[in-house]
Amino acid sequence: MAKAYDYLFKLLLIGDSGVGKTCLIIRFAEDNFNSTYISTIGIDFKIRTVEIDGKKIKLQVWDTAGQERFKTITTAYYRGAMGIILVYDITDEKSFENIQNWIKSIRENAAADVERMLLGNKCDIESRRKVQKEQAEKLAKEHGIKFFETSAKSSINVDESFCALARDIFIKRVITKKTGQGNKPQVSLNSPQQQKSSSKCSLI
Ligand code: GTP
Ligand code: MG
Repeated sequence: MAKAYDYLFKLLLIGDSGVGKTCLIIRFAEDNFNSTYISTIGIDFKIRTVEIDGKKIKLQVWDTAGQERFKTITTAYYRGAMGIILVYDITDEKSFENIQNWIKSIRENAAADVERMLLGNKCDIESRRKVQKEQAEKLAKEHGIKFFETSAKSSINVDESFCALARDIFIKRVITKKTGQGNKPQVSLNSPQQQKSSSKCSLI
């Protein structure tokens, strides 16, 4: 039987309670949205497969509870993650301020080479905006990470952001490794720089 996927990437979402982590994952994995708020207990995951450069990448997306009382359980999952998505709510200033603490938590608990990304969720409710896009762009730039404003509700930038992260992990772990120093590639590959612009992520 043909292998169902070529690579498995583990992603993890973190951020304050109520920012929309679970909704983002449900939008990405099931293309669905529910406005009833059921706060996550501990940890959970969903799967979606994408294709990059003809390779099937199975994304295992871990959802963590934002509530402080689950911190011990959730931080135990940081180490296995290849990508960590930091989420705040654009209508909740405190959730944005706390991103600094979540970044610190990554530094303390995750692998040093983990890919990070920042998402400002709920961008469909512009009238209640408290965090300006420029503030978040500045923060993301300071930390050298990608940033998107998203809406799980209106399906804005959800697929795009998850794909962008998957692509960055693919470039770091698959392409750069093969073309890396002293490591002759088995097959002919473009340089990482060329690949960077040509690696497309499609949802399958
Ligand atoms: P915890 O599990 O407690 O950490 O929270 P969470 O980050 O998983 O939040 P969740 O996804 O459960 O969403 C919290 C509330 O925000 C729910 O009522 C959602 O319906 C709502 N919500 C999530 N995403 C969006 C969005 O993009 N737009 C709007 N308007 N509401 C959203
Ligand atoms: Mg949740």
